[in-house]
Amino acid sequence: MAHVNVALIGYAFMGRAHSNAWRQVGRFFTPKLTPRMKVICGRNAKNVKQAADQLGWDEAATDWHDVVNRPDIDIIDISTPGDSHAEIAIAAAKAGKVVFCEKPLANTVREAQQMLAAVQKAGVIHMICHNYRRAPAVMLARQLIEGGKLGRLYHYRGTYLQDWVADPSVPLYWRLQKDKAGSGALGDIASHSLDLARFLVGEITEVSAALETFVKERPLPDNPKKKGPVTVDDASASIVRFDNGGLGTIEASRFATGRKNYNRFEINGSKGSVAFDMERMNELEVYLSSDDKSVQGFHTVMVTEPHHPYFKAWWPAGHIIGYEHTFIHTVYDLLEAVATNKMPTPNFEDGVQNQRVLAAMEKSAATKRWVGV
Ligand SMILES: NC(=O)c1ccc[n+]([C@@H]2O[C@H](COP(=O)([O-])OP(=O)(O)OC[C@H]3O[C@@H](n4cnc5c(N)ncnc54)[C@H](O)[C@@H]3O)[C@@H](O)[C@H]2O)c1
Repeated sequence: MAHVNVALIGYAFMGRAHSNAWRQVGRFFTPKLTPRMKVICGRNAKNVKQAADQLGWDEAATDWHDVVNRPDIDIIDISTPGDSHAEIAIAAAKAGKVVFCEKPLANTVREAQQMLAAVQKAGVIHMICHNYRRAPAVMLARQLIEGGKLGRLYHYRGTYLQDWVADPSVPLYWRLQKDKAGSGALGDIASHSLDLARFLVGEITEVSAALETFVKERPLPDNPKKKGPVTVDDASASIVRFDNGGLGTIEASRFATGRKNYNRFEINGSKGSVAFDMERMNELEVYLSSDDKSVQGFHTVMVTEPHHPYFKAWWPAGHIIGYEHTFIHTVYDLLEAVATNKMPTPNFEDGVQNQRVLAAMEKSAATKRWVGV
């Protein structure tokens, strides 16, 4: 069977999730192209070698410049913090590689636009890893909306809540530094919620937002006796307008004590509603006004049947799947896109649009006004 050689840059959280996806995809799906896990890249030789052995990569490398220029590599998978996405993606595009990049696409709209220009100029396939689109229940929500089952869409209510930095003694990781992460809860998790909003409801045209940083200084990771300034938001709350007339809210926080990965949305339309919660990702709550009046109300659909999106590849109905499967579905769709030379979604165009909305939210928060996207 034809194969493609993959190189992964970054070997920590997303590095592990992506490695697992590349390893498992051919064991459950039958992609037209088989991925070969050729090389994993990080900056520390000992750690990256250990990661290669544990995660199943043939080789370990310490300089991404060499990796993106290797003639035997077909796909560059970028799983590093946002401050290196643009540089790596642009070099990879220039070298003619397929570019798969973690979200948010970049740290600024300008960088994101440069990345899009580079992949378009090179004529290569590109994709951004908004993996939550590929939870079967989210895909089912999309099918219901596309089939007109919810009618005209009035509301998107997205909340992405975590609490991992609520403790002020959590060190000043890269995610809390603007030069490395671009923004805080906004770019990290509101970006996912707004990607789902764009995927399910439509384009966002206007935003009114507020940002807050509750803990302004934190211990330095390598010297806990000293503190440094937190330069990103801890939480964001936004009102958004859609091009189809819908009104929405997108809230993201790392200070929602007790909430871990509460990526939830509810969509209300003229004929019905759907609600999804990533922490119960095998289920979709559905309300349809066309249901018999005597049993009308929200009901919970277990989205694990073979006729549900992606589920034919997995287990018998009711044998649930988890977080890591969303990445397997994502790389499966990327492999099929490469095999058929069709651009997958979400791609860098979506990444740029997402970044524009994030920038509008930041501007709105700074000026205390509605801002057009
Ligand atoms: N799709 C999702 O659900 C999801 C979840 C978490 C993070 N992310 C995104 O994934 C990206 C990485 O986040 P993470 O949580 O894996 O971070 P992490 O800190 O766990 O890992 C970052 C990795 O990048 C490596 N790295 C950093 N700079 C490098 C460089 N110049 N060259 C080579 N390697 C370098 C680090 O050594 C580390 O292995 C970010 O863009 C983040 O927003 C996405």
